[in-house]
Amino acid sequence: PQAVKSKILNLAPLRDQRVRVRGWVHRKREQSKILFIVVRDGTGLLQAVLSGRVAQTYDALTLTLESSVELVGKLVEVPAGQTAPGGHELVVDWWRTLGAAPGGAEAFTNKVNEDSGPEDRANLRHLVMRGETASAVLTLRAHLLTAFRATLIKHQLIEVTPPCLVQTQVEGGATLFKLDYYGQPAFLTQSSQLYLETCLPSIGDVFCIQESFRAENSHTRRHLSEYTHLEGELAFITFDELMDHIETLICESVDILLANPHSAALIKQLNPDFAPPARPFKRLSYVDAIAWLREHGIKRPAEDGSGGEVEHAMGDDIAEAAERRMTDIIGTPVFLHGFPAELKAFYMKRIPGNEKFTESCDLLMPGVGEIVGGSMRMSDEQELIAAYRREGIDPAPYYWYTDQRKYGTCEHGGYGLGVERLLAWLANRFTVRDCSLYPRWPGRATP
Ligand code: 4AD
Ligand code: MG
Repeated sequence: PQAVKSKILNLAPLRDQRVRVRGWVHRKREQSKILFIVVRDGTGLLQAVLSGRVAQTYDALTLTLESSVELVGKLVEVPAGQTAPGGHELVVDWWRTLGAAPGGAEAFTNKVNEDSGPEDRANLRHLVMRGETASAVLTLRAHLLTAFRATLIKHQLIEVTPPCLVQTQVEGGATLFKLDYYGQPAFLTQSSQLYLETCLPSIGDVFCIQESFRAENSHTRRHLSEYTHLEGELAFITFDELMDHIETLICESVDILLANPHSAALIKQLNPDFAPPARPFKRLSYVDAIAWLREHGIKRPAEDGSGGEVEHAMGDDIAEAAERRMTDIIGTPVFLHGFPAELKAFYMKRIPGNEKFTESCDLLMPGVGEIVGGSMRMSDEQELIAAYRREGIDPAPYYWYTDQRKYGTCEHGGYGLGVERLLAWLANRFTVRDCSLYPRWPGRATP
């Protein structure tokens, strides 16, 4: 009979029919002249059974892992007492090798295996990503982006695609990638925030999911040189409403992932203990956070080069190590808010009546630390011009950003969320490098 062509994910309704599947040999074992192979096609795994004539061909006797194959046969329920992905297996009556992978020294398992060091794994990312864990993370990442979009669209934000080639900085000159743009200086964008702000009077509340670039020479487990940045900007909101929105974005997106059996299974596979965070998230002001760090004896490195540690004091930055210890002790998401203006970017709105501090927030997650940074923006043109001056920023290239205030200003605020950091939290990965398709960090732009 004619075989039905199907992706592995869609096989369930095709039980007892003759089907045709194409994929890659993921595992194989032989047992008394019967060849069991597990085939992978990106949508799932399927066990196939080759016996008799089809198991005795040259191709069958020399079949290697990661070869691509086409298999045709009847899809049957696995015999009682046995297990296989999806509870079924393919009894192959015809098959062929499409692309044989090498054996011997060049065999896949000789290139990538448990003993591969980090350098090898980075160079062989294109092969490593075929593994069960890496492919699950990448598939979950796709579901996560879809869930974010669904949530943002539900809350009436519109998606835009701002440019990556820019001539303005957002988060300080120190981390800019500079390039020659037809003889003019330009940068790879650090954040699309300024462009999002200009969209408010045009198309209303907006978001983007766009690459951002940071020339940060930090070899940490949460820094990339290029990362996927989800940014949102909302008009006519208050600072509390901004934090509520960020909380809603994360919680509703997680709910979508848990309600979908495919993404729920990936979360279960990668992070079996995952529980959706309780709402509302804890909110802790910067001033209270400094007191909390002192109470808990969490110090910061001294600046005198002695290698010693000192207590946190008012005005100090809360660095990565302290932040992570704090979230690990608290054990739930925490909004830190109201950071001192000196520690934060030029565009942040001051707290009315408490001008040393800003209406800014960082959302910290257990195991990762900061995953979102957001703030209310200065809405007054003169105040913004004074801020450029204070930071030593030439206002000329920012004329379009300043015009946002000049032509009908509004109270507004927004945020940026590091997609790889959120995924590291959700999928319980040690480093954001495992949460990016082809991660970039200092010295690495290959493959
Ligand atoms: O805190 P950041 O620098 O804030 C901004 O860029 C704002 N302009 C965003 C906005 O308000 N629209 O970056 C936002 C988030 C961080 O919280 C972090 O999750 C992520 O971006 N991030 C990085 N992720 C990976 N590698 C890096 N080097 C990152 N730098 C920031
Ligand atoms: Mg930040």
